[in-house]
Amino acid sequence: MVRIPLKGCDLNKCFIPSGVEGLDSVLGGGFPSKSLIVLAGCPGVGKTVFSAHFLYHGCVDYGDKGVYVSFAESREAFYENMESFGYNFKKLESEGKFRFLDLFTVKEEGIPAVVEHILKEVADFGAKRLVIDSFTALAQAFREPHEKRVFLHTVLGKICRLQGCTTLLISEKPCEAENNGVNFSVEDFVADGIIHLKRGYLAHRLIRELEVFKMRGAQILETKLFFTLKNGFRAFSSFKAKTVSSPKRFQPQPDAPGFYSTGSPDMDEMLNGGYPRGAPVLIEIDENISMLQYHLIVVPTALNFITQGRGVIIIPSAGIDYRIVGRRAEEAGLTSNEVNNLLRLCVKDHPGIKLEPYVVAFKGVNILEDYAAYLEVERELMEKTGQPILRITGVDMLIDNYGARGTISILKVDATKIRETGGLGIMLLKPGYPKLAKILGSIAEVHVKIIREHGKVLVYGVKPRTNLHILEMDTSKGYALPKLTMIM
Ligand SMILES: Nc1ncnc2c1ncn2[C@@H]1O[C@H](COP(=O)(O)OP(=O)(O)OP(=O)(O)O)[C@@H](O)[C@H]1O
Ligand SMILES: [Mg+2]
Repeated sequence: MVRIPLKGCDLNKCFIPSGVEGLDSVLGGGFPSKSLIVLAGCPGVGKTVFSAHFLYHGCVDYGDKGVYVSFAESREAFYENMESFGYNFKKLESEGKFRFLDLFTVKEEGIPAVVEHILKEVADFGAKRLVIDSFTALAQAFREPHEKRVFLHTVLGKICRLQGCTTLLISEKPCEAENNGVNFSVEDFVADGIIHLKRGYLAHRLIRELEVFKMRGAQILETKLFFTLKNGFRAFSSFKAKTVSSPKRFQPQPDAPGFYSTGSPDMDEMLNGGYPRGAPVLIEIDENISMLQYHLIVVPTALNFITQGRGVIIIPSAGIDYRIVGRRAEEAGLTSNEVNNLLRLCVKDHPGIKLEPYVVAFKGVNILEDYAAYLEVERELMEKTGQPILRITGVDMLIDNYGARGTISILKVDATKIRETGGLGIMLLKPGYPKLAKILGSIAEVHVKIIREHGKVLVYGVKPRTNLHILEMDTSKGYALPKLTMIM
């Protein structure tokens, strides 16, 4: 994102943050101050929630007084609905920071009276933020077509520019308009900015999208964000890797009864408790998902086993430098003692292989011979720890060595073994094996997919079925964890 500040403009004064973090970051700070912004979308898409967020956070975080003009909803309904998203407008009103104008009766009063009413309210109250919900409803009361333009120019000139009040004008669009391009109205041309809210389906699951269609004075490199209404309006830009500033040792996550924790509280919540004990798990990784991104989901589970004195056997994916596993262990503060005792990394024998105490070399020719050796490694770890084992298997590595048929038959046998020992087996499947995904999906008790769309990474459960979740990187604990936010 590049924001071109207006000449001689103090950045803090030039922008009015929407209060939606992900949006403000792509806008370079927020809406241009004193601007008129059209917020368009079809019924139930989240226009009122966005507007409420804009006013609520404007008031709570920036001390801006706000006015909400409603032509559709009563004060009681608005207060009650918005409370469920965490916006307490009753409190703001009682503190003299917010006003709700219920203008149901606009038709009887006539437009000049309505305009006068809004102008007076904004001026007397000293509002810095105004929402008109909706302009579409108000426009139905206009008798002459030119009244619409007069109203828009009054709002823009007298309310936005003169009073310094940034205004959101809600525009109701039919749902078909979302797909066929929006029909533009006068307000779209007059406004300084247009935000479209849309809903759709991705992987047969609800997805909500915010598009910055126009924003005067801003060069916006990322125009499409995803958003959720869960606990209020939150928007997400592309996945960003973070560095851990002060590394700390991984803290184990407790297991819920009958489950192994995934090592991540968010992932445990998404899967209703974690991975069931004795479960084969399939994690399907889409194209363009980086190693860092899928490691965010998988590595905490391994760390959670090792930090509780349990064994982990890993067969890394093809093309992965196996030494990355040692580095991930180091980043999470594991001791070399823990790694050497509890981790086993199965690597195909090759010239120059560095046989660390935790590396086991395999021939990679005869699958039955290698599987017997693998079970021996497992038996040794189980005996040593007295606990079940986690196995993480890069399926493509098995296919490369033993072919698809051998891989499937051994993974089926192994699924039974996992169930018998009460351990946990995670199969990592890279893209390019659609048939295999179906077969392994039927073996697996838990099936998770990691996909990418417009630069955002999404995670969801096929088994158990879940909503889409946005993946972000959380480094607040001193190590990398996935942060997952449900789209709803
Ligand atoms: N507590 C909640 N958490 C998350 N989502 C909710 C919650 N309550 C309602 N919703 C969703 O919020 C949506 C309503 O959002 P909102 O009222 O902002 O839509 P809108 O665009 O203003 O619609 P309209 O044009 O009909 O006024 C509903 O579709 C509903 O699915
Ligand atoms: Mg609404």
